[in-house]
Amino acid sequence: MLKFENVNFGYPNKEIFKDINLFVNYGEFIFLVGESGIGKTTLLKLIYSELKPTGGDINFEEYDSKKIENRDIPYLRRKIGVVFQDFKLMNDRNIYENIALPLYIDGLKEDKIKKRVYDIASKIGIIDKLNNFPYDLSGGEQQRVSIARAMVNEPKLLLADEPTGNLDPFISLEIVKLLNEINVLGTAIIFATHNFDIVKKMRDKRIIQIKENKLFEVKLKI
Ligand SMILES: Nc1ncnc2c1ncn2[C@@H]1O[C@H](COP(=O)(O)OP(=O)(O)OP(=O)(O)O)[C@@H](O)[C@H]1O
Ligand SMILES: [Mg+2]
Repeated sequence: MLKFENVNFGYPNKEIFKDINLFVNYGEFIFLVGESGIGKTTLLKLIYSELKPTGGDINFEEYDSKKIENRDIPYLRRKIGVVFQDFKLMNDRNIYENIALPLYIDGLKEDKIKKRVYDIASKIGIIDKLNNFPYDLSGGEQQRVSIARAMVNEPKLLLADEPTGNLDPFISLEIVKLLNEINVLGTAIIFATHNFDIVKKMRDKRIIQIKENKLFEVKLKI
């Protein structure tokens, strides 16, 4: 589904990736770890084409970073859900409208939108919140809404950038379990975090560490 081949990337005064390779299959769950400032968010941005590699090639499904045109980028992004640490909900819209937003952008008809929003909201456990506004909800509930919004398009890949960074340990674990359930239903997940407690709790997952401009597969000792 996703392949990085000899990818290089740097900001004007900082090299981030040097000749990295990565292969992600449909349905995988990957933890992306590494210290703060090492490049986790940058790697996710390369995947959803917010940044372009300075060398090498990234392939996601039929899209190729070398050939993609700006007008294709919205189509690529429809296949990728993104969840952020700070939720990024719209405070002047209710929860239903927040979740429905990607579908409005796609131009779906209202009855289809309604069905999709209700389906995902019930899966994710926020069906009773649809008429509320973001500020009515706890942090954990807001993160569920942002996951619902990321999933409403039925993406094949979900990128989660420190999704538990603003949440207490108990709620964090709930969110990780929810993402695991989403993964079991078939969506591939790349979960960036520097919270090693979470990674240790989900021992069976693939772990990729960014270190010294490279990627490493990490195996936890039993
Ligand atoms: N637009 C930019 N221009 C220049 N440097 C940047 C830019 N964005 C990020 N950086 C730098 O690139 C490095 C990698 O940033 P990135 O956000 O990918 O790290 P991260 O691993 O996600 O860190 P954190 O765990 O703190 O979120 C950092 O040193 C950051 O300061
Ligand atoms: Mg980051």
